Amino acid sequence: ILLFLYFLFIQTVTTEDVTHQKSFTGEQVWRIQPATKQHIKYLRTLQKKYLDVLDFWTLPSSVNHNVDVRVPNHLQKKLKSSLKNKNLPYATIIQDVQKLIEEERQSMVKDRKKRSVKSENPSAEFNDFILDSFVSHQEINQWLTNISSQFEELCSTFDIGETAEGRIIRVIKISLTNSTYKNQSKRAIWVEAGMHGREWISPVTANNIIYNMITMSYSDRCVKNLLEAFDWYILPVANPDGYEYSRSRDRMWRKNRRLSEVLKRPWWSAYYSHSFQRNKYRYCYGVDLNRNFGFKWGVVGTSTNPCSEIYQGPAAFSEPETAAIRDFASAVNNDTQIIVYLSLHSYGQMWLYSWGYTRQRSKDHKDLRYIANQSSEAIFLASQKRVQYTVGPAARTLYASSGCSDDWAKGSLGVKYAFTLELPPSDTDYQLNGFLLPASAIPSIRETTWTGVKTMAELTLAA
Ligand code: ARG
Ligand code: ZN
Repeated sequence: ILLFLYFLFIQTVTTEDVTHQKSFTGEQVWRIQPATKQHIKYLRTLQKKYLDVLDFWTLPSSVNHNVDVRVPNHLQKKLKSSLKNKNLPYATIIQDVQKLIEEERQSMVKDRKKRSVKSENPSAEFNDFILDSFVSHQEINQWLTNISSQFEELCSTFDIGETAEGRIIRVIKISLTNSTYKNQSKRAIWVEAGMHGREWISPVTANNIIYNMITMSYSDRCVKNLLEAFDWYILPVANPDGYEYSRSRDRMWRKNRRLSEVLKRPWWSAYYSHSFQRNKYRYCYGVDLNRNFGFKWGVVGTSTNPCSEIYQGPAAFSEPETAAIRDFASAVNNDTQIIVYLSLHSYGQMWLYSWGYTRQRSKDHKDLRYIANQSSEAIFLASQKRVQYTVGPAARTLYASSGCSDDWAKGSLGVKYAFTLELPPSDTDYQLNGFLLPASAIPSIRETTWTGVKTMAELTLAA
């Protein structure tokens, strides 16, 4: 028997190692349309009950706000009949999650091939590679270093911290030194991306912003102005461990990868709990970094359960990533006042502003709304496909959640303009893809986001 068990053990360990990647074959994503308060309540109970079975891509918030949820095979039948029972309509928006993951991977392979064909200019090729595909954290960091030594009068990099798995959190600063703009003292714009592992469109969009700022700094009058008036600090991957884990192991990974806390339960409790699935583990990996910032930490839309996707962590700023951002951004802010804090997420095509933790208006509500509206209007007008962002305060437009970086920037640092973008898709070609975009979707998203960011910065300049 012992030999048999040993064999079984080896078997499971090695199969895990061979496949590496978690498979999502047959898993679906459903778009549920809650129409009553009861529906919302019910969705929230589902969320708790199936904590590590159901993956909510959008959290339940209020009536008529759709909720996207990933449903594994074994729950589909059961959930279907419960939804029917509750009179809750839904549509299947992704038939097979694995299929989309494979298409995404294919699109990246094609990209690599295309690049290896044309290679007269190796540095240009390296740029294409970074700007047109979903590349590794290491490649992004290397590129940040390369490009800032290539444009050393314009750029510098700062290593602001190290993750649990030893990856470097790197920020690039783009600035025209010694410049003055209409004799104003300089202010700073902070752009942060890649806070959630699986939101791959976010880091690549940040890289494109970096590239445009740098290469257009002399040729484009407007960009030059923006660099004279502001120091730009851009962090493309705020959660390197989560990003890499989503690339190599679990495409749906959101949190960081620190083993933060062992559940305070005796070891045998797992076997006696009423839901074996839910309490299978005594520990779980990862904190939701966008619930870990120390402003209104743990107030709403967060979880104290380490196995939850929105686990807030054992304490505010308990994580190396959030602590690094806090320390560095505070130091920048003491030196050069940060006027905009922009956080790039996906998906939903929304231009959100603070507050996210409360439905109450901030004192700058009108100014925030103005810039968000104008920026998304500019996107709408400039885009061929008429990309239309939804605009509003985060808590009302998306859902309420606290401990997020945008609210922290506003509430603790005093940054006036705190925005979160939920990047496309929503009404573009890939409106039902969620996090799983082919690389071919990057160019149009880079164009629209660039238009939005430029407009936002110009309006800030005038404000
Ligand atoms: N998708 C983001 C998250 O869940 C949205 C954050 C919006 N900002 C906020 N303060 N709630 O983390
Ligand atoms: Zn996110």
